[in-house]
Amino acid sequence: MGIYNDKVMQHFMNPHNVGEIENADGVGTYGSPVCGDMMQISIKVENDKIVDAKFKTFGCGSAIASSSIATDMIVGKTIDEALAITNKEIIDELGGLPPVKVHCSVLADHAIKSAIYDYAQKHSKIYKGLEGFDPNADEDDHDAEQEDSECGTGSACSVKCGR
Ligand code: FES
Repeated sequence: MGIYNDKVMQHFMNPHNVGEIENADGVGTYGSPVCGDMMQISIKVENDKIVDAKFKTFGCGSAIASSSIATDMIVGKTIDEALAITNKEIIDELGGLPPVKVHCSVLADHAIKSAIYDYAQKHSKIYKGLEGFDPNADEDDHDAEQEDSECGTGSACSVKCGR
């Protein structure tokens, strides 16, 4: 476990905001084209501010840590502020991730944007930060075998990304 810093380990061992919000205002699911892992984020919004966020992840420890800290980061932020968060900021907030695990933080970044996209669609809202965002981007690549997946497990993995 030496490749992960203490903060990543804390969020992996005791993740914040796990679950799904009942009657959420927006729900977004994103599947990584790199490893096939999935993340769902649900949000509650009041007066254009995210007042609650929860996640469910079928993914690795880095995905769990990233979604834990990312949901912490967006609660209390306006939609525009949440949309401005990048996966690099998620990684920085975690104190760093190994390079081969950077794509795991992208799961959280995209799932947040997908949840906000869903909220925007349902409430007829337009946000500059969603310009050009396609919640289904890269989904088609899921079928591609990732013999060389960045997690390094590749075809040797018996339970795909269930680490
Ligand atoms: S999210 Fe799939 S290996 Fe991390």
